[in-house]
Amino acid sequence: DAIFTFVILIAQSKETSLKQKQEKEQKIRYDNYRVFKIKYESLQQRQLLLELTKQYHSFRLWNENNNELHLMVKPDALPQFERQLKRANASADNFISNVQHLIDLEHEATTKSSPIFGWTRYNNLAEIENWLDEILSAYPNVTESFVIGESYEGRKIRGVRISYKSGNPGVFIESNIHAREWITSATATWLINELLSSGDDLVRGLTESHDWYIVPVLNVDGFVYSHQKDRLWRKTRQPSNISSCIGADPNRNYDAHWLENGGASTNPCAEDYAGPHAFSEPEIKAMSEYVCGIRDKLNVMLAFHSYGQLLLSPYGHTKFEFPYNYDDLMQVAKAFGDAIEGLPYGAVYKYGSAAGILYPASGATNDWAFSQDIKISYTIEFRDTGNFGFVLPPAYILPNAEEALVGIIALLAEAKKLG
Ligand code: ARG
Ligand code: ZN
Repeated sequence: DAIFTFVILIAQSKETSLKQKQEKEQKIRYDNYRVFKIKYESLQQRQLLLELTKQYHSFRLWNENNNELHLMVKPDALPQFERQLKRANASADNFISNVQHLIDLEHEATTKSSPIFGWTRYNNLAEIENWLDEILSAYPNVTESFVIGESYEGRKIRGVRISYKSGNPGVFIESNIHAREWITSATATWLINELLSSGDDLVRGLTESHDWYIVPVLNVDGFVYSHQKDRLWRKTRQPSNISSCIGADPNRNYDAHWLENGGASTNPCAEDYAGPHAFSEPEIKAMSEYVCGIRDKLNVMLAFHSYGQLLLSPYGHTKFEFPYNYDDLMQVAKAFGDAIEGLPYGAVYKYGSAAGILYPASGATNDWAFSQDIKISYTIEFRDTGNFGFVLPPAYILPNAEEALVGIIALLAEAKKLG
């Protein structure tokens, strides 16, 4: 008996270690990949630095803001990186020395924490959908499930509508359009929970005087892929007809000045590939059709992203033109920023037009929504500003989510004043 048990134990431990090994082998690893902040002054310098990202296996652009690029560099490409820095006469500051280490810590925090859905860890798509079903059955009178359509791989793209009184002004929240931006769906789900259960008078008042349409994960295929295979996946998963590279940037795929002004790439391997044509990505086509169907009911569009701590208004395709209601948009944005600064966590948000304070980006959600007459329309870039980037440790989920709630409530209160 003892021997028998022993054999079983060995067999079991072999099986689990094999499983773990397979899981590890399956996933793309980022051992000793570094991420640098690079300051530049001239467009020529920027051009030289961005040239590197054409070698997308070795160099990946993480962010750009304030004359500063964040670039992830594969370890064996470091010499080339150094040479290009010299050519560009720029200097770099290394803020992540091993991307895989951050991914491992995040994974550990997730497997160690309670198996119950919560906000001390990042939840995967199945967990989010199960939780959504629980919420729907716990609040049957004020919630409603909706499906905006299907992804390329055939997954349903789900959302929840929260309404205490029909005919309220509508707020649409699009989240996790970029697969790796996990903080967005963590924040969107916390927000759903809080809107339904908060006891705070201000939160209750604004929650109940708006109709909410919240899609926690829009890019479902990419999100699943980022959990199972590549933590840093950004795009959709639809193959290309002209390249072996997969996916398009869904936030460059809307029919809003699509591909104009260098606001996206025509290269299917680029992180900001616009797709073969506007609305080529089934997720974005579904989103546009769903939103058009309820357009009359919508006053506000918020698109959740990370990272950078920014509230971005239209336009994204040009920094030389501004929306007719730009002053209103900035007044509302200020309320958002001030509310967050009032919290004890110390996060500060900047605001402005997307192209004005960031970089040109065409075919993005907030620009398209604005073109569809949803006049209070923003992209929100959540935490952080460049410590962990996309791999924000789960300990920051709650502070980030609370900032989002307080900011959005202040935003809606200010928007209401505009009438
Ligand atoms: N990080 C986002 C992206 O690259 C920001 C887009 C902002 N631009 C805009 N037009 N909304 O997709
Ligand atoms: Zn994003």
